[in-house]
Amino acid sequence: MSIFAGLAPLPPDAILGLSEEYSRDTRPGKVSLAAGVFVDETGITPVLATVAEAEARILAAQTTKLYKPVAGDPAYLRPVRDLVFGSGNAAVAEGRVETLHTPGGTGALRVAADLVHRLRPGATIWMSTPTWPNHPQVFAAAGMATASYPYLDPATGTLDAAGMLAALRGAPAGDVVLLHACCHNPTGIDPTPDVWRQVGDVIAERGLLPLVDFAYQGFGHGLREDADWMDGLLRPGLELLVSTSYSKSFALYNERVGALLLVAGSAAEAAAAQSHVRAAIRSNYSNPPSHGGDIVATILGDPALRAQWEVELAGMRTRITSNRTALVEAITSRGIPGDWAPIATQRGMFALLGLSLEQVARLREEHAVYVVGRGRINVAGFTSATIGPFADALGAVIAG
Ligand SMILES: Cc1ncc(COP(=O)(O)O)c(C=O)c1O
Repeated sequence: MSIFAGLAPLPPDAILGLSEEYSRDTRPGKVSLAAGVFVDETGITPVLATVAEAEARILAAQTTKLYKPVAGDPAYLRPVRDLVFGSGNAAVAEGRVETLHTPGGTGALRVAADLVHRLRPGATIWMSTPTWPNHPQVFAAAGMATASYPYLDPATGTLDAAGMLAALRGAPAGDVVLLHACCHNPTGIDPTPDVWRQVGDVIAERGLLPLVDFAYQGFGHGLREDADWMDGLLRPGLELLVSTSYSKSFALYNERVGALLLVAGSAAEAAAAQSHVRAAIRSNYSNPPSHGGDIVATILGDPALRAQWEVELAGMRTRITSNRTALVEAITSRGIPGDWAPIATQRGMFALLGLSLEQVARLREEHAVYVVGRGRINVAGFTSATIGPFADALGAVIAG
């Protein structure tokens, strides 16, 4: 009795499948705007200087490859918690925050899903429309039911705050709300502080559990500025989950480093909840990979390296912002019909062009330009040499 005979292959992953197709493409001048990776002006994704320095120190000091604790090293967990919550946070001071090292942001989301599914098997997780294509897959794989709330108003290209709030008001108590902390993927549109506060009100009124996906801290406006969701959501007694990723902000994509943080009602509840997260980790991948966490711990634990990393992070952020301005300029100077100006003020790696599937296919087939779905582009993937040809290709497929 074969398990594999007759098995139909699954379609390729919406993003990784495109990246693989791009690698096989032999056409000169091909452009990949599919996966969310930062490239510099020479078109490569460099190792940050602070990461290289930290790696040298780690290698020189390394004496063992012993397992890490299931939750991770305190040398990693403390600075990560402080990076997320800043200094002087009441929940941290009261011992109500627990932090656990995970393999990337995806690992944190999956551990969160396993945790919630164990503790509250009937809970549904609500996600924005649109969202990162892997979100529904991760939660469904853990056995959770998924639902969606409006986010982008396609007519105006702005946040549909009223639609979002109305949908969340209809969510049953105990359900989970997945929120992009900043640099919303794929729209680049984030709630204002006022909308965050209204979302916080609905969450508190309805008894919902927020899960904040903080994969892009520092890529929007700055490390603390990108945490402004916290002012809107955090309030006495609120329970909260946060997933973080250092794939982008430390350019540690392949090291798989991130964290899951939880805020509980009391220090004792936090400690008990942490033991349940540890159990979810233990039965999943046992303990976290070492290298990426050691790099982040080394950088955040050394004031000089940390200051240098903040400069490198600001450099990536500024480059993305100037790519946005240059892209809008290239598109509008070609007279391509559409309202492109918001791309310049949106934040993070992504922008949504709202193309048809046929236009996206033509970009790839006729112009060797790879974009996701209905025209999600990675704005961090441009160099000054590729923006013009991209705008030409966009103009050609829009002209018909
Ligand atoms: C919104 C969002 N969350 C989480 C992740 C996961 O990041 P990681 O590569 O660390 O698993 C990504 C990566 O693209 C993302 O865009």
